[in-house]
Amino acid sequence: MKFVPENIVRKSLLKVKPYSTARDEFKGNASIFLDANENPYNTDFNRYPDPRQSKLKEAIAQLKNVRPQQIIIGNGSDEIIDLLIRAFCEPAVDNIIVPQPTYGMYTVCAAINNVAIRQPQLNADFDLDLSSIEKSIDVNSKIIFLCSPNNPSGNLLEEEKVNALVNSFPGLVVVDEAYIDFANTSGFLSKLDNLPNLIILQTFSKAWGLAGLRLGVGYASEAIIDILNKIKPPYNINTLSQQYALAALEKNYQKEETVNSLIQERTEMEKQLQELNIVQRVFPSQANFLLVRMDDAKARYNYLLSHGIIVRDRSSVVLCDNCLRITVGTPTENKALIQALKNI
Ligand SMILES: Cc1ncc(COP(=O)(O)O)c(C=O)c1O
Repeated sequence: MKFVPENIVRKSLLKVKPYSTARDEFKGNASIFLDANENPYNTDFNRYPDPRQSKLKEAIAQLKNVRPQQIIIGNGSDEIIDLLIRAFCEPAVDNIIVPQPTYGMYTVCAAINNVAIRQPQLNADFDLDLSSIEKSIDVNSKIIFLCSPNNPSGNLLEEEKVNALVNSFPGLVVVDEAYIDFANTSGFLSKLDNLPNLIILQTFSKAWGLAGLRLGVGYASEAIIDILNKIKPPYNINTLSQQYALAALEKNYQKEETVNSLIQERTEMEKQLQELNIVQRVFPSQANFLLVRMDDAKARYNYLLSHGIIVRDRSSVVLCDNCLRITVGTPTENKALIQALKNI
């Protein structure tokens, strides 16, 4: 059956007329802008930002080999996660499927929007357990959120299983690829044209090193992007972030260099951690962090904290008992971490 996003969109949204900005209504060339109640005196930021982020989308589209119309830019991917739930899930009726353990914002956004959450478990290798996912799906399931490489485990989800889900599920499947630049695969972007219910999330916060700008990128069919554009806040991406990201895209090689050195550091950190007797297991990672099973995660977390080193204690998360999640830092930071653990 052909996938038509309008069939699963929240009914009330079908009637919503999006806010039309002054800049949306104007077409052609002009030199005097008296249309938006801005201050005319130049501060570099006296004008509202481009609500469609056209230049930035062109540059991203070129880099990623997609069409600009297949892109939505959010104030972090977190904003796109929220937009997706608001666009496609009817509060108090629909549910989302979030295999656990994974990134926490899918469930937080759903809870804020009064959308129920079904949480089947990943298997012991943190990969998809298709039968438990299928059991959790019902007629009101609208979105499945997958994360690959997964946070907090660091592994890629098996491609064939993701394909099987996207092909069989009548709603949307989101694949969050926040960490894809650190992985040995290019991810799902090349499949976008063939999978009309697939949404891919990426971000400038990790490999690009621009978490402070708050820029997340969603890729999907033009029909899905049109719906999200209808409900996004009109000026969600500020001028400075748009300019800064454009400049970063022009220096793509710098990102590649950082990613390569972080991957090298990850390998080194993994080796060093495995040699410590307080470490029981380092899970294989395709991201910029390692999930590490300790002898006593809470004690080791507190010890590191008392030495000024903060890691994330994930012990309370399903399948992650006694696990710390450690972000790969600079060589100096990583050495300090290993030395501190050796001193225990
Ligand atoms: C899997 C995943 N998705 C999204 C995000 C948030 O990305 P952004 O900074 O673009 O909101 C994170 C942040 O840690 C993450 O781990």
